[in-house]
Amino acid sequence: MTDFIQAAKDQFGKLLEEQLKRVEVMKQQGDFLNYKDLDKLIIGVCGGDGIGPAITSQASRVLKYLLKKDVESGKVEFKNIEGLTIERRAAEQAAIPAEVLKELKECHVILKGPTTTPRKGDPWPNVESANVAMRKELDLFANVRPVRIPEQGIDWTFYRENTEGAYAVGSKGFHVTSDLGVDFTVVTTQGTERIIRAAFEYAKANNKTRVTAVTKANIIKTTDGKFLEIFNEIAKEYPDITADDWYIDIMTAKLVDEKRRKEFQVLVLPNLYGDILTDEAAEFQGGVGTAGSANIGKRYSMFEAIHGSAPRMVDEGRDIYADPCSVIRAGAMLLAHIGYTAEADQLYKALDICTVTERKLVITGRNTGATSAEFADYLMETIEKL
Ligand code: IPM
Ligand code: MG
Repeated sequence: MTDFIQAAKDQFGKLLEEQLKRVEVMKQQGDFLNYKDLDKLIIGVCGGDGIGPAITSQASRVLKYLLKKDVESGKVEFKNIEGLTIERRAAEQAAIPAEVLKELKECHVILKGPTTTPRKGDPWPNVESANVAMRKELDLFANVRPVRIPEQGIDWTFYRENTEGAYAVGSKGFHVTSDLGVDFTVVTTQGTERIIRAAFEYAKANNKTRVTAVTKANIIKTTDGKFLEIFNEIAKEYPDITADDWYIDIMTAKLVDEKRRKEFQVLVLPNLYGDILTDEAAEFQGGVGTAGSANIGKRYSMFEAIHGSAPRMVDEGRDIYADPCSVIRAGAMLLAHIGYTAEADQLYKALDICTVTERKLVITGRNTGATSAEFADYLMETIEKL
């Protein structure tokens, strides 16, 4: 056999070993952490880079204000985590610097600002995306992305699988020869069951009547086929919920069909389809900058804005004018997740007043508008008056 085929087989063998190890870890996994059982809940605030630190620090101020009582009593602690910057990651040649990862693991939930993902042509080495690495390292398997446009009757919650599919070994594909490149997509029973169950449990707890799976199981028969098969099995445990499935291509089309799209409620989908469809969905709501995203695992959870780090705003000295709404919205999701639902509702209400109905301050991203700190003040004054 030619050497390059043997080399590819060896590399593939290593990937399989790693993935089988992951399966064993998942088999041992317990239940979700119950925040009520903790003496002290630790919220990590990780600014990331670019405009991240500027907007995340404002979100953190708002959360501290809402949780003041429990911060003072010591029930809740905020921990600032620095160093998840592209400079540090490049210097250490690591997606997440070791020290930062250690600090992240000392928290229960994390609020994260945007991080730069290098791409071809950038001055940075090709380190893996910090988002993707954090999802893997902390096993944040459910990427929950709500999109709501009440006036159009849209209320969607996407449950995107967050650790497998095309992303599991996304940076470990290889060129077998200079003419042949291969990437891999991965599915496991454990990884699929947990995301599908999470979607149905969410539907059940929130009186949703429909859960929709999105795959391309007619073509990607093994991995998407398995995802769909497990979906159909688990659906049987929820007889009161309608379960249906669509292929990703037609689903992408249906989301622009104004008559039909209102009918979707909870959607569960493999990683890459979830990545693509949630950007499309967020666009109807006003763009990806308006959407928050929850990355939920059994031990850790992380909440983030899904826009980029806008390094140019920092270069031009405009980071103080960056719009903190998306990361503040992620903060509201964090509050709801850890059981502070009343505080989360207050924050959603205030965001609505400050950005839609009252809009006493406007953020333009430049000195023609308010700074993110002024906006956070406005938000807190609004909450005070609720
Ligand atoms: C997202 C982003 C990330 C992803 C990037 C930044 C790696 O697009 O959170 O959807 O592809 O998951
Ligand atoms: Mg995306």
